[in-house]
Amino acid sequence: MATLELRGITKRFPGVLANDSVDLKVSSGEILGLLGENGAGKTTLMNILYGLYSADEGEILIDDVPQSFAGPGDAIAAGIGMVHQHFMLVPVFTVTENVVLGVEPVGPGGVINIKEAKREVREISQRYGLEVDPDAIIEDIPVGIQQRVEIIKVLFRNAEFLIFDEPTAVLTPQEIEEFFGILNGLREAGKAIIFITHKLKEVIEVSDDIAVLRRGAMVGGADPATTTEADLANLMVGRPVELVVAKEDSEPGAQVLTVSDLVVLDDRDQVAVNSISFDVKAGEIVGVAGVQGNGQTELVEALTGLRGVAAGTVTIGGKDVTHATPRQIHESSVAHVPEDRQRSGLVMSFSITENMVLDGYYHEPYSSGIKMDWDSARSKAEELVEQYDVRTPGTEVAANTLSGGNQQKVIVAREFGRDVQLVVASQPTRGIDVGSIEYIHERIVEERDQGAALLIVSTELDEVMALSDRILVMFDGKVVAEYRGGAVTAEEIGLAMAGAAT
Ligand SMILES: Nc1ncnc2c1ncn2[C@@H]1O[C@H](COP(=O)(O)OP(=O)(O)O)[C@@H](O)[C@H]1O
Ligand SMILES: [Mg+2]
Repeated sequence: MATLELRGITKRFPGVLANDSVDLKVSSGEILGLLGENGAGKTTLMNILYGLYSADEGEILIDDVPQSFAGPGDAIAAGIGMVHQHFMLVPVFTVTENVVLGVEPVGPGGVINIKEAKREVREISQRYGLEVDPDAIIEDIPVGIQQRVEIIKVLFRNAEFLIFDEPTAVLTPQEIEEFFGILNGLREAGKAIIFITHKLKEVIEVSDDIAVLRRGAMVGGADPATTTEADLANLMVGRPVELVVAKEDSEPGAQVLTVSDLVVLDDRDQVAVNSISFDVKAGEIVGVAGVQGNGQTELVEALTGLRGVAAGTVTIGGKDVTHATPRQIHESSVAHVPEDRQRSGLVMSFSITENMVLDGYYHEPYSSGIKMDWDSARSKAEELVEQYDVRTPGTEVAANTLSGGNQQKVIVAREFGRDVQLVVASQPTRGIDVGSIEYIHERIVEERDQGAALLIVSTELDEVMALSDRILVMFDGKVVAEYRGGAVTAEEIGLAMAGAAT
């Protein structure tokens, strides 16, 4: 039985106390769920544990013996393994080549013994129920299987303590269930596991013990057997949170967005959106579900004028906008919450005020056409910062000083702060804490009730299910399924997301 402990870990970045005297303990045969909002300090804490950062204060102990890690090599030697949020596999290598990379078993004469390596990969994958083909090329296998390769890689290096940083973020609901099966198997084999997530449901389902981080500090623990999602949300955010979006049935009106036989190419000129047709009506929220990378990004870019259309048509409010520019689309009363906020949502070096009026600065009320009215811009910005709970010292600081979640709030505040007929929102709450998600979801429903048409693209299935009056599932560039909101289960949608015939 082995125990890993963190005592009083403190880590400062310029202007940020990322970890504030954090204590944590996990033992063999145990899954510790580490819960926290985005920016709470989870990854920083694990990077310290894995030897990637050094702590300003505090210590790491294994079986009560203080450790000193100069780098991941030391942490690995001490039995710590980490499966990162973004996989670190070589796409053109095989499963086995990736697993043994850097620690290849060598035979006589220094030749890499690939046969022996394959045998070990097979052995580990059988022992822990991690089914993979040792000869498969990484780029040919689904993300869920790539994750197994990462796990095998860690086990191959004899890890006893396994850290998973938001492992479910990239998985479909079915893959998540399989992954939980794997976690349970690892626990039964006596591994100590730290499972990081910001999803309340998951942490309750899989953990033996729960620890909650808030703004760098450990704010408490919870017993998964007795705690509730509401309790955990409260701990995580620091106040009670409404977890369910309250909304009436929709009363769809006229078609606002009409997409017909749309074909869009990706950056490599491959077909990303493959001849799809759908509409969104006034007073209706249509959610697009799908695993990242099935054409959603290109679809949204085409609808908002950021990417050319190869074939088909797009009309908004009866006007053909198939080849319109982003500004023309914007001026057709379309709000856009982009997926990549830093590239297309904000000017990072501009102040919050400037960003808030970015799309309206050239007309009333901010400008007479000749002179900018900064007072009116500033008071509008202050109002929105207050409403959307943007955490900032003031409206004159540059956007790049805000955390990702707060940047997202600035964009949503600006885009929802004017009258629109259509909202196209990609990942509207990515990187945002539950407290602010609550507010943004309420605003989305309000826009609908005021008669706007909304297209919400999200890889968070819970979000799509909570908000949508109608759900479209994208897979491989096509709309493969359509459901009425509230009349479908996560499992059904999950199967469609994975490309199963429906
Ligand atoms: N390398 C870094 N330099 C400066 N600030 C950082 C760095 N890494 C993280 N931070 C900041 O530390 C805080 C905690 O971040 P992080 O550990 O990534 O949170 P989490 O994983 O819980 O989302 C955030 O405010 C983040 O902006
Ligand atoms: Mg993180």
